[in-house]
Amino acid sequence: VPIEPELSSCGESTVDTGKTCMNVPCCPPKLKDSKIIDYEPLLGRKIRYRPAAHLVDCDYLYKFELAMERMKALPVDDPRNFMQQANIHCAYCNGAYSQVGFPDQKLEVHYSWLFFPFHRMYLYFFERILGKLIDDPDFAMPFWNWDSPCGMTMPQIYLDPYSPLYDENRNLEHQPDVLVNLNDGKSVVKKKKKKKEDCFNELTKREQIKSNLCVMYQQMIRSSKTASCFHGAAYRAGCVSETDIGCTPEPRGGTIENGAHLAVHKFVGAKNPPYNEDMGNFYSAGRDPLFYAHHGNVDRMWNIWKTLPGKKRRDFDEDVWLNSSFLFYDENANMVRVKVRDCLDSKALGYDYQSVDIPWLRSKP
Ligand code: C2O
Repeated sequence: VPIEPELSSCGESTVDTGKTCMNVPCCPPKLKDSKIIDYEPLLGRKIRYRPAAHLVDCDYLYKFELAMERMKALPVDDPRNFMQQANIHCAYCNGAYSQVGFPDQKLEVHYSWLFFPFHRMYLYFFERILGKLIDDPDFAMPFWNWDSPCGMTMPQIYLDPYSPLYDENRNLEHQPDVLVNLNDGKSVVKKKKKKKEDCFNELTKREQIKSNLCVMYQQMIRSSKTASCFHGAAYRAGCVSETDIGCTPEPRGGTIENGAHLAVHKFVGAKNPPYNEDMGNFYSAGRDPLFYAHHGNVDRMWNIWKTLPGKKRRDFDEDVWLNSSFLFYDENANMVRVKVRDCLDSKALGYDYQSVDIPWLRSKP
């Protein structure tokens, strides 16, 4: 059965580190008229190109900051308000929702095949809200190009303490020129440490860049030849026990989700135990504007993956995946139900990514 969040039962989210635990309220504001619209593509618009964050010019930055400022200034109970947007992540990742038809089953969008579709649509509505707030329906938000040498530090535009793109809950030791280490998560590279062709982990800049490109090659090319490797394990509604037929024996994220994606979260999040807010914990990650640029690049990887050679590098075609759905408030504060099948092609959603060099394609270890 496809997965759908049960809106009416939305409750507190649980943040559990294994050692300590807390509950946080993250549910969206109540529907005014209980109306949920099914997603429909906007037709006839030109494609919006999301720019690399380290390449934007100051006219762009002016618009982006204005939009973010307005989003933060919306009334706190407006579903388009920045904190409400941040809470969407918390609700979908920390068990605020149960699954439609299965009141005992929590919904979690990480570590499974829901990872790429959920985050794609989350960003999609976030971007449309930004566009609406500056009256520019063609506005495209930036992506953090951490898979390319010039993008491997936190992008400068997010670092000005007076900017609405700033977040004080970050690891200050990781400001530029410190390069992200993409091998820091649970990466596939680690296991094979001893083999000759492996990625190394040295601290000089040049070696770090080389290592990161090598990690990207591993996660995007070598280890992601099938949908299951890239997207992660199947996740169906109502799976109660590990032995249920069709259930995922255990949650498993795809190569990029477990690897570069988590590494960047950890790199940005503050070193504050126990929760490492903001980016270091799913419940708070959406509170950092950099989150959306980070996930822009994660989303871009989905587009790139589909263009790589190999017959099995294709999305799943199972209905249970295609018909799984999520709920988001759109730019007009209407609640929209969007299915995985609506989001397979970013161009059909009206956006794509600025074309930049992809050096890891040539970084075979
Ligand atoms: Cu929903 Cu980067 O996590």
